[in-house]
Amino acid sequence: TYEKLWLVAAMVLIVGFIATITYGSVALGITMVGDQEPTVEPGELNDDERFGDPGVEHVGENQYDAYVVAQTFAFRPEVLEVPANSDVTFYVTSRDVIHSYSVVGTNINTMVIPGEVAQMTVEFDDPGEYGVVCNEYCGFNHHEMEGQIHVV
Ligand code: CUA
Repeated sequence: TYEKLWLVAAMVLIVGFIATITYGSVALGITMVGDQEPTVEPGELNDDERFGDPGVEHVGENQYDAYVVAQTFAFRPEVLEVPANSDVTFYVTSRDVIHSYSVVGTNINTMVIPGEVAQMTVEFDDPGEYGVVCNEYCGFNHHEMEGQIHVV
């Protein structure tokens, strides 16, 4: 009957979807952002070599790594200073609840989840000062959670 045909067609479609998703993630190497970087548990942050004393590290010609810990209600360090004409890779994690790391006036905006390390690379060409805010409601002082990036 037609009903059976439709049932079979639906099954074929479902299997096809699953195969496509599997093919896409395996063959093309697509992984979730949270899986790309080593994770770090909030309780281990103080002993972590990256986040125990977070800040900017010079890792190559015009290349910097910036480690940031978000916590209620501040970013550590509060101020990052990087040279103009540099590529900065941010690694941001949270000590407590979900925050975000959002640079005002740019498209730099990432969710910061406890236990995970958000990563993004940004090119800073010109000197300037940028404000950083938290875009995820994280508690009564969410609106006061601010930081700065100084490009010098
Ligand atoms: Cu942190 Cu809102």
